[in-house]
Parts: sequence; structure tokens; C-alpha cells
Amino acid sequence: MLTTAQREQYQHDGYIVIPNFKNGDEIARLRARAGEIVAAFDPAESRAVFTTRDQARASDAWFLGSDNTIRCFFEEEAFGPDGRLKQAKALSINKIGHAMHDLDPVFDAFTHDATLAAVARDLGLEQPQVWQSMYIFKQPGIGGEVRWHQDATFFDSTPISVTTFWFALEDATIENGCLWVEPGGHRGPLRERFLRDGDAVTMEKLDGTPWPDDSTAVPLEAKAGDLVCFHGLLPHYSAPNRSSVSRHAFTLHVTDARTAYSPRNWIQRDDSLPVRGFV
Ligand code: FE2
Repeated sequence: MLTTAQREQYQHDGYIVIPNFKNGDEIARLRARAGEIVAAFDPAESRAVFTTRDQARASDAWFLGSDNTIRCFFEEEAFGPDGRLKQAKALSINKIGHAMHDLDPVFDAFTHDATLAAVARDLGLEQPQVWQSMYIFKQPGIGGEVRWHQDATFFDSTPISVTTFWFALEDATIENGCLWVEPGGHRGPLRERFLRDGDAVTMEKLDGTPWPDDSTAVPLEAKAGDLVCFHGLLPHYSAPNRSSVSRHAFTLHVTDARTAYSPRNWIQRDDSLPVRGFV
């Protein structure tokens, strides 16, 4: 599936962009299904927002209980001082997570794809295990920033194998909050680890290496349909969306079953919902 040059680029930079990976119909189906999930979501169930500021403290029961189900999270700026939504519900949701790929037929079909399996194999994932899916809205005007982090913080294994598959469902630009990455940064250390013990979570500091700055970060603008694959140690962030257009994306987090998945990761599976690969 991938060329030698693409594989070498992934090794060197820690990421690759594969243009036109998903077609318009596949994207339209996923977007429509996400819209239905949001339409069916009753905000009275939870007003939980998703934030990457002090994530250990901000993680509540709604978040921790979303590991193996499908839940919606609001943008941090969704509510006004009067406690009401500032804009329509459909324009207020930050993301849907975290098990649509196993529990929803449309997300399942998008994820369990032989071409994706071939890409994963070419990236070194011989026995892929798809732990998490997220549909990220990055809403116009209020789409929240996602601070610098490494995805291995949330999907630790020995050795580290987590790989992120990030699908642009709309054009991602600097204006609407595209990804920023540090090319080659995956060769650095894991800085922190998000640990779960029952209903308690902590963020453990592992390494004091500073996060990249504007001198080394590069924007990854992408067209709808493009797939960005990146290494679990690659530092990345995305800025708030202050533009008038949304920036929908879908992500999958995948480890290799040949590596030991940490029992302290916040997402665990048992026989009732076993973790699966791409096919
Ligand atoms: Fe991430």
C-alpha cells in the first residue's frame, strides 16, 4: 500500500499524509451518522465539556464512562454565563467518543477497511488493536484548542506502539485549527502518562523535555478525505477554531498486540467487548 519513500518519511518525520484516502460518499455517510448521534443526544444527560487543560482533574464520570460506549462532549465555550448554549446543540459539541468503531454500524464500516489494514501493516502494526475512536467537530467560532501532547500518554504499551489515524472529513486549514506537529519529535521521550485507577485518574510526569515552539512546529493542512498517520510519540496540537467554518475529523488510536498494553490505560476491554483489528 505505502511506497518505500512513504515508509521512510514516516520513520524520519513521525507522520505521513495520504491524500484522497476516503471518498466523498464514505465521508458523507460518517458525517450524517455523527449528526444523527448528536441529534439524539439529550443535553440533560450531561453538560460535560471536553478540555485538555488539566485533563486529570477535569475528567469526570461522563468521560471515564465513555471508554466503551458512545457519548457526546460539549465545547468548553459552548455555554454562556446564563448556563444556556450560546449556539445550536449541533454547533456546540466538541466530540463524540470513544467506541463508535465497535458499536455503531456506520463507524464500524468506515474503520474496518482492508486498505486501512494494509496501511497499518506497512507502518509496522502487525497485529493492530483499535482501542478508541473520536469524531472531532472543531466547531466554528468556539472549537477548542488541543494543547501539545503525545498520544502515547493515553495509550501506553511496552514498547510504545500506539499509532494515530486521523481522517480529515473537511478541509483542515491554519484558520480553522488544523493539526500542528514537530517533525522528528517522535524520537524524543514520552513526557507524561495518563493513569487510571478505578474512578481516579492522574497525569504522571515522566520527562521534563519542553514542548515544541513555533520555530519547530509545522502546520498539517489537509483536504477532506486525506488520512494523516502519526507515531504515538509525535508531539502535536491544534489551535482554537475562530473561523466561521467547522473542521470535522475522525481519529482512531491503534496499538500492536505484540506489545504489552498497560493495564493502567484509561480504556480497557474484556470479553464482553474484545478489542479488534482492522479486518
Ligand atoms: Fe492527539
